[in-house]
Parts: sequence; C-alpha cells; structure tokens
Amino acid sequence: MATSREAVLNALSNVIDPDRDKDIIRLDMVRDLNVDGDRVAFTVVVKEPDTPFANQVAEACRRVLHERIDRQLEVDVTVDSEMIALDEDIIEGGETKQTEGGVQNTIAVASGKGGVGKSTVAVNLAVALAEQDYNVALVDTDIYGPSVPKMMGMEGQKPRVNDERKIEPLEKHGIKLLSMGFMVDPEKAVVWRGPMVTKAVRQFLGDVHWGDIDYMVLDLPPGTGDIQLTIVQTIPLTGAVLVSTPQDIALADARKGSAMFDNVDVPVLGIVENMAYFSPPDMPDRKYYLFGRGGAQKLARKLDVPFLGEVPIEQVVRERSDEGHPVVLSEPESRSAQAFHQIAERTVEQVALRNAEQDPTQKVEILYR
Ligand SMILES: Nc1ncnc2c1ncn2[C@@H]1O[C@H](COP(=O)(O)OP(=O)(O)O)[C@@H](O)[C@H]1O
Ligand SMILES: [Mg+2]
Repeated sequence: MATSREAVLNALSNVIDPDRDKDIIRLDMVRDLNVDGDRVAFTVVVKEPDTPFANQVAEACRRVLHERIDRQLEVDVTVDSEMIALDEDIIEGGETKQTEGGVQNTIAVASGKGGVGKSTVAVNLAVALAEQDYNVALVDTDIYGPSVPKMMGMEGQKPRVNDERKIEPLEKHGIKLLSMGFMVDPEKAVVWRGPMVTKAVRQFLGDVHWGDIDYMVLDLPPGTGDIQLTIVQTIPLTGAVLVSTPQDIALADARKGSAMFDNVDVPVLGIVENMAYFSPPDMPDRKYYLFGRGGAQKLARKLDVPFLGEVPIEQVVRERSDEGHPVVLSEPESRSAQAFHQIAERTVEQVALRNAEQDPTQKVEILYR
C-alpha cells in the first residue's frame, strides 16, 4: 500500500497538544515530512523538551497513523524542541557549525557608563540603517541589562532553532534581532568569567542563521571591564561607536572606552553625544545645553576620532522606547530621529573609509562558519 501527504497530515491533526489545546498540524509542529510509499518520516517540534506531552507525542503520532491509515505503515518520528538550551548547555555545547551568508560589518555600540543611552543609540542606529535599505542585524550582548528586546517590542519572545539546529534570529521592523538575554540569566551573568563569556558569545553568534547582513549593530554591556574586553576580542569588529552624555564624568569614561578599543586595534568610528541639549516643546528653536556644550566634540577632537552627532533629550525618545517603538520609526520628524539618521549616515561613511583604508574586518570564524 502507499499513502499520501494529505492522508498523513489529516491523521496527524488528531494529535492534540493538551497544553495549547490545538492539534499539532495547526500548531505547525510537524516539519520535514517525507512520505514515500508506506514509509513516513517527520519531526515534531515541541515547545519544551521533557514534558509529558513531549515524551508521548511520538507514540501518539504512530498510533493515529496506524489506526487511521494502515497498521503496516513504517513511521519514523523525531521529536525536537524549540526551546534553546539555557546557559550551561550553551557553554558546554558543541563547536560552531556551517552557515551560509555573511556579516559584512560589525559595529559595537559602547559606553563607559550605563544609563547614557547606549541601547537607545544602538536600536535607533539599527533602525535608521534598515530604513536606508541595508540588511541589518541587532545583537544585544548586554548580559547584565538586556534591554534591546523591550525597546524593539519583542519582550518575552524567544528565537527558535531550525532544522539545521541553528538559531533563527527574531525579526522586527526589518531587522534581525537576538539578545544574549534570551539565553543567559542576568542574575547568573554577574558571576561570569572571561572564558565563559567567550564561549557563550562564540556559540551565541556562531550558531545563528544570519543570512546576508550589511551591518550588525552590537549593544555592548556598559563599562570597560573584563567582560567588555572579552566580547570585543571575541567578535571581529569593524569599529565602535562610543556614546556619552555631556557630563565630564561620562566623557572621562568614554575616553576609557576609546582606550580599550585602541588596545585591541578596533577603530573608533566616532562619538555620539546623547542627551546633548533640551528644547522646550513650546520653544523648539531654543536649545538648552544643560550639562555644558561641546564636551563630546572636544573629546572627539582630542582623540582624533569623528564626531557623529548630538541627540537631544526628548520625552518621546524614552516613551517610544518603553513602548517598543524606536523613535526613528515612530516619530520620524522629531529632532532625535533626524539626529539618529545623520549618525547612521556618518557611521556608514566611517565604515566605508575604514574598510578602504585598512584590511577588511577579518572573516573570523564565528560569523562565517
Ligand atoms: N535622547 C534621549 N532623550 C530622552 N530619554 C532618553 C534619551 N536617550 C536615552 N533615554 C532614556 O534613558 C534611559 C537610559 O537609556 P538606555 O539606552 O537604556 O541607556 P544604556 O543602554 O546606556 O544603559 C532609558 O529610559 C531611555 O529611554
Ligand atoms: Mg542598555
């Protein structure tokens, strides 16, 4: 006897996932179906491994196929899980595997201090680049305070693992997105040591199906400690964008950031001054430089790196961020959105200059294999 795909799918639609109260076909849990004469092979992708349902689903599938189609049917079921292994597994896990495509440029967004708007700049830079029709990836490596998923309106979503056991990045606003926060418990991250971070970052980036990416923007953890240094040395970076606020203390920390990148030969593409000034909504032509004017420009000159632009303090920036709608998309007319576009353009110029002047970023394995 021979059976058909339709008959198989029909039969399998009688297998119900009790946790979600729908059948496995509607839940799109059946993959790689292969029907060949009286042989049927497929994979059931469950949400979590080791639940009662995950442990029984293969047998349930076999039973409905035998009962509804033919007892002689040869049924080969593989059960796979959507859930990504949590930290320990990632760290202990295997080597990186082959991916096609490639990441052309990687830009780290860094700051000497937390709270200066590093994530805000990373997100809006990524969105602005995507609006200029580049293929963009946004990677949150801030294991202590992963905020990119929230700012992109993707909180609580987890990437899935595809049939080749690669992580499929999430997608939003035309950007491919991943956060180390998906895999690392921030509370455990506090005690991480360099080698753990290296392993996690390598695997995190290497086991991802990125496809072709023009610009990968990485939100680094704030500061210039071991963790930052490790990440910077692990990922082949095209360059870094430093974010600072105008206060002297933030600028002093930005200088430390610049020194860190110098030490590892990563060019600083430029400095962004965030929360540079305030314009009252009813007096939009006024600019109040609350913390002093021109500090970041001066620092840029001193360090001999480009100044990429100043972003004002605007209420919509924070509000839209909190709502998961980056201001570049949701308030394109705002001063800050325009500033972010300018910053994106200058960053592109600096990357092009850098690539023209120096060897292209080394095609380090983690992003290419
Ligand atoms: N230009 C800005 N105007 C108003 N609020 C801002 C601006 N930049 C950042 N913020 C807000 O400041 C807070 C810290 O920004 P965030 O990007 O999370 O900083 P970091 O990643 O450096 O810790 C967030 O609530 C953010 O919405
Ligand atoms: Mg942040």
